Amino acid sequence: MRISVIGCGYLGAVHASAMAELGHEVVGIDVDPRKIEALAAGRPPFFEPGLAEILTSATGSGRLRFSTEIADAASAEVHFLAVGTPQSSDTHAADLTHVDAAFESLLPHLADGALVVGKSTVPVGPAARLAARLADEAPHASLAWNPEFLREGFAVKDTLEPDRLVYGVADDHAASVLDHVYRAAIEAGTPRLKTDYATAELVKVAANAFLATKISFINAMSEIADATGADVTLLADAIGHDARIGRRFLNAGVGFGGGCLPKDIRAFTAHADELGRGESLRFLKEVDAINLRQRQRVVDLAIETLGGSVFHKKIAVLGVTFKPESDDVRDSPALDVAVQLKGLGAEVIATDPQGIENARLRHPQLEYTSSTSEALRGADLMVLVTEWREYRSLDPVVTGRLVAGARGIDGRNVLDPVAWRKAGWGYRGLGRP
Ligand code: UGA
Repeated sequence: MRISVIGCGYLGAVHASAMAELGHEVVGIDVDPRKIEALAAGRPPFFEPGLAEILTSATGSGRLRFSTEIADAASAEVHFLAVGTPQSSDTHAADLTHVDAAFESLLPHLADGALVVGKSTVPVGPAARLAARLADEAPHASLAWNPEFLREGFAVKDTLEPDRLVYGVADDHAASVLDHVYRAAIEAGTPRLKTDYATAELVKVAANAFLATKISFINAMSEIADATGADVTLLADAIGHDARIGRRFLNAGVGFGGGCLPKDIRAFTAHADELGRGESLRFLKEVDAINLRQRQRVVDLAIETLGGSVFHKKIAVLGVTFKPESDDVRDSPALDVAVQLKGLGAEVIATDPQGIENARLRHPQLEYTSSTSEALRGADLMVLVTEWREYRSLDPVVTGRLVAGARGIDGRNVLDPVAWRKAGWGYRGLGRP
C-alpha cells in the first residue's frame, strides 16, 4: 500500500521503516529538516537495535522516502499520525498541539478514500474530534485510531511482530484497510481487536498505567522488604509464579522513566480530573510518588554508605539512560540520581554505552567517560542505575581492584549479593537484605 507516516520521532521513524520492510511504499514526513536528512541518508537519529538495518535497506530499495513537505504525502492511501504528545508546560495534561497541527496540515492533501490513522498516545477525545473535522472538511476520507505498544530497545520487533493490534474504527472499511497494512502480522495469528474510538484511545494509556502500577507496586514492596529484612527479588519470583500476577515488570529498583510511562500516568490523571472522575485515578499519583521516591532512596543509600556525606567523594554512576538498549535519557532515574549526587558535592563520573551524548546535552555539569573501568578507577562508591549487560556481568574481584572503596549500590537489583560480598564488597540493593 502507499503509506505516509507523519512525525518521524521514535515512533514514526520505526513505524515508517517497519512498514517499508513489510513491502509497503512509504513516505516519512517531519518538520525537522535535520531529522529528515539523517533518515533519508539511512542514519537513525537515535539508538535502536535493528533500526539502522531496515532503514538502510528500505531507503536503498526506494520503498522508503523522507520529506519535510506534507504535500509529498498526498498520494498515500493510509496516513499514520505519529507525532509526539508531550506533557504540557503548565499542567500534567497531554499537549495535543502537534497532533492537531499535523492533522490540519494533512487535510487539504487527502485523496479520495484515504484513511487517517492516529498512533500518538492521547487521552479520550481526539479521535472523535478529528473524525468530525473530516466529516466536515474531507468527507471522502475516514479516520481510525490504532495505538502503538512498542518498547524502546525492542521497537523494530514490536512493530513487525506486535502482540496485539487494536483498531478504533467507525466502520468495517477502515478495519479492512488496516488488515491490508498489517497483513503479515494477521496471517501470523496476531490477535486483532476492533473497538470504538474511545476504547482504542483508552487502551494505550490504560496499558501504560497498569505497567507503571506494577513497577511501583513492587517498589513499594521493596520498601517493606527493607524494613523487615525480606528479599524483594525472591518475593517477586514467588508471587510471579501465580499466572494471574506474572513475573514480568516486577523488578524493583530505581524506578521507571523515559518518554512514556511518567508523562502518560500524569496525563491520564489530568484527564480523569477533567472528566470529573479524579478519584478513579488518584492511585496513579501514589504510583508516581512511589516511583520518584526510589530515586531519593538510592541517593539516601549513597549518603548512608559513605558515612553521612557524599561531599568530595568520588562516585562512579553506571548508566544514564532510562533503560538498557536505548540512548534515551528523558526522565531517566539514572541521570536524576547522578545529578542529585553531584548537587550534594560528590565528584560524580557517569558512564553509559549509548547515552552519554544525550546526557551531556541535558547535564553538561556532570563528568562522563565511555569507559567503565575509567569511571570505576579510584571510586569511593559504585552506583549501578541502568542494567546494561556489561554492568550486570561485572566481575566483583576485578572491579574491586579498580575502586578505592569496595562499596556498591545496586539500583536495579541485578548483581549477585553473595558473590559481591564474598569478594569483599559492601553490597546494598533495594529491598534486599
Ligand atoms: C513503555 C511501554 O512498555 C510500551 O508498551 C509503550 O508502547 C511505550 O511505553 C510507549 O508508550 O510508547 P518504554 O518506555 O520503551 O515502553 O519502556 P519500558 O520497557 O516500559 O520501561 C519503562 C521503565 O520502567 C524503564 O525505566 C525501566 O527501567 C522500568 N522498569 C521496567 C522497572 O523499573 N522495572 C521493571 O520491572 C520493568
